[in-house]
Amino acid sequence: MEQKKFRAAVIGCGGISQVHIAALQGMKNVEIAAVCDIREDRLAKAVEKTGAKGYADWHDVVALPDIDVAHICLPHYLHAPVTIEALRLGRNVITEKPMATTVEDARAMIAASEQPGAGSLGVIFQNRYISSVQHAKKIIESGELGAFLGVSASVCWRREGAYYTESGWRGAKATEGAGSLINQSIHTLDLLSYLGGPIAKVRGSVFTGLNEGTIEVEDNAMAVALYEGGQRAVIHTSNNNVADDPVEINIHLEKGALKLFGPKLYAVENGELKLIDAGDNKTVVGKSVWGSGHSAQLEDYYTCLAEKRHFWLDGRSAFPALSLVLNIVRSSEEGKWIELDRA
Ligand SMILES: NC(=O)c1ccc[n+]([C@@H]2O[C@H](COP(=O)([O-])OP(=O)(O)OC[C@H]3O[C@@H](n4cnc5c(N)ncnc54)[C@H](O)[C@@H]3O)[C@@H](O)[C@H]2O)c1
Repeated sequence: MEQKKFRAAVIGCGGISQVHIAALQGMKNVEIAAVCDIREDRLAKAVEKTGAKGYADWHDVVALPDIDVAHICLPHYLHAPVTIEALRLGRNVITEKPMATTVEDARAMIAASEQPGAGSLGVIFQNRYISSVQHAKKIIESGELGAFLGVSASVCWRREGAYYTESGWRGAKATEGAGSLINQSIHTLDLLSYLGGPIAKVRGSVFTGLNEGTIEVEDNAMAVALYEGGQRAVIHTSNNNVADDPVEINIHLEKGALKLFGPKLYAVENGELKLIDAGDNKTVVGKSVWGSGHSAQLEDYYTCLAEKRHFWLDGRSAFPALSLVLNIVRSSEEGKWIELDRA
């Protein structure tokens, strides 16, 4: 017997929706039934591309009784209200990162996902699905290189001008939540706790550099964090670079070191880099810095739905990265160490 197809709604038809749509169109057990955007031009394009019905108001979409999964591809400040309403109505939700712009909203999303009858909540952190990241996690957890001692991470990209001024939401605290930390480096901050374990506290400093006058959020940040076990993480992020450099995560272990450089994983031996995992090399839709993990994560999400299993990258799993982002900013404002919030 042929399995029933899941009916998906893509809410928000800007940049990242292209990646969701391409991934969904490659999946046999999903059909895109609805697309939604307040911008007529984007909605019309999405309707043409998918053949789905178009909606201007997200309330109408999440209320459709035959929608199984809502993909939230909206500006940051809308993730929480749309997710909470969709979950309340029993829809499953996969939302783009960051899950929310405040700790309170993130907690409300988790609470909504844990109500009886609520749908499943998944949060996109596609880089966890890259083979080199999985490989690094395996090496750390196997103990073959001894205990985990700490990491340094760097995300130096370039974002300016129209990226902010034409979006209508990026660069403003109320709609983006923060700047380079919440939008660009949150993927890397997520990997710090995914690979190294829970982070206890952070001391950070943020400022607006070359985008001063254009945006009110930070485009540069520096932080030191301590894991619950006392290990350290040094974090540097900037949106003021000449270009988008590969993300770098240096992982220090008792008997050696690993380096994630872009999608590649190296062992560091006597100062030399030895390639141990080239990372996924699939064709990607969208910018290469977004990586190629969306399809893998979305396939995993739908497999869990089909098999009625809990999806692991849920609100609780995504929460620590948001807490780290918001508390680096808070630490900078208050000039002191901040204990991370718990979900
Ligand atoms: N996972 C990744 O690597 C990755 C990469 C890029 C963006 N993102 C995330 O995806 C989300 C969207 O980013 P984007 O770059 O596609 O932004 P975007 O501005 O290109 O797209 C957002 C769309 O939402 C629409 N919209 C705004 N308010 C709406 C409303 N009330 N109802 C319906 N539609 C509305 C806008 O018109 C726009 O088309 C953000 O959370 C961003 O952080 C994730």
